[in-house]
Amino acid sequence: MALRFEILGRFNRARAARLTLPHFVCQTPLFMPVGTQGTIKGLTTNQLEDIGCQIILGNTYHLALRPTSEIIDELGGLHSFMNWPRALLTDSGGFQMVSLLHLADITEKGVTFQSPVDGKPMLLTPEESIQIQNRLGADIIMALDDVVRTTITGPRIEEAMYRTLQWIDRCIAAHERPDVQNLFGIVQGGLDPVLRGICVRGLVDRNLPGYAIGGLAGGEDKDSFWRVVAQCTAALPDDKPRYVMGVGYPLDIVVCSALGADMYDCVYPTRTARFGTALVPEGVLKLKHRAMAHDTRPIDPTCLCMVCKNYTRAYIHCLVTKDAMGSQLLSYHNLFYMMKLSRDLHSSIVVGKFPEFVCEFLQRMFPKGD
Ligand code: GUN
Ligand code: ZN
Repeated sequence: MALRFEILGRFNRARAARLTLPHFVCQTPLFMPVGTQGTIKGLTTNQLEDIGCQIILGNTYHLALRPTSEIIDELGGLHSFMNWPRALLTDSGGFQMVSLLHLADITEKGVTFQSPVDGKPMLLTPEESIQIQNRLGADIIMALDDVVRTTITGPRIEEAMYRTLQWIDRCIAAHERPDVQNLFGIVQGGLDPVLRGICVRGLVDRNLPGYAIGGLAGGEDKDSFWRVVAQCTAALPDDKPRYVMGVGYPLDIVVCSALGADMYDCVYPTRTARFGTALVPEGVLKLKHRAMAHDTRPIDPTCLCMVCKNYTRAYIHCLVTKDAMGSQLLSYHNLFYMMKLSRDLHSSIVVGKFPEFVCEFLQRMFPKGD
């Protein structure tokens, strides 16, 4: 195992921990920005360090197509390729293919898809996904899983869950660097508590360094989503990190942390920035709105980020659809907001003030109580 997970504080099911990875010592709960192509769009790695990012996510699928894992390996691995000294996590590729390419076909062997480069059929097996991720060299690598949307029903959910369990053994067998890279398993099983239960037990038997809860945030209602997270966190080992994949709305992160989850990733903060939306304690602020044209306040007067210290809403409103700087400034602020949320969750749990933090968070976001 190439990680240490030390719980520093608890409140009911919520935990605050120190997660020591080969490239960085992280504090949980934590949010991981998504850097699909080896970059968080519009931000330099120096800026990401200033913002306080501890770990960022890269995608096996995108990097394997371009520039290819062989080239990144030759250049010294993903850390050195993208000039990021802190921790990295790579996702296995299956989810990206299925969500991006409707042509992907999943069989026992792996995921078959048409190469977007030359249209040729390609197969990503569990072995290949791990081999690519070994070459990329991230601190945490993800098992290849069979992902289905939570909004579908029927035998396909069960098939995907059992396939994910069969693939985990092939991933473990293919993993050549367990001393420096942590392989996380992914719990699937849709919204079915029986299937989720079988999958969690199967993965826990493999004694992996950490576990993810997958297949969520795909359009299911919040009640079903929280129920699955609550069931999985209750059944996963207490002394290992728990990662809820694809979750990134601030409210969901607060709720999942209360349910005992530790790690999150989502494109939401940076994607919504590119559409002109800022994350603020009250919810969101739409910088494209006409009312912003004359507004000389910063995005969030209580925010201590570089953008809020230096720029007005009026300036960002003016840039937002016209110049890349608009989305860069908004991405900077939004990630700063997510990092502060992570730090506030961590410290409120450590000092025993988690309920107070949650109350204040909810009151600001829902002042009318609705
Ligand atoms: N990203 C968001 N959800 C998932 C999932 O279920 N599996 C994988 N591999 N990545 C994800
Ligand atoms: Zn700010």
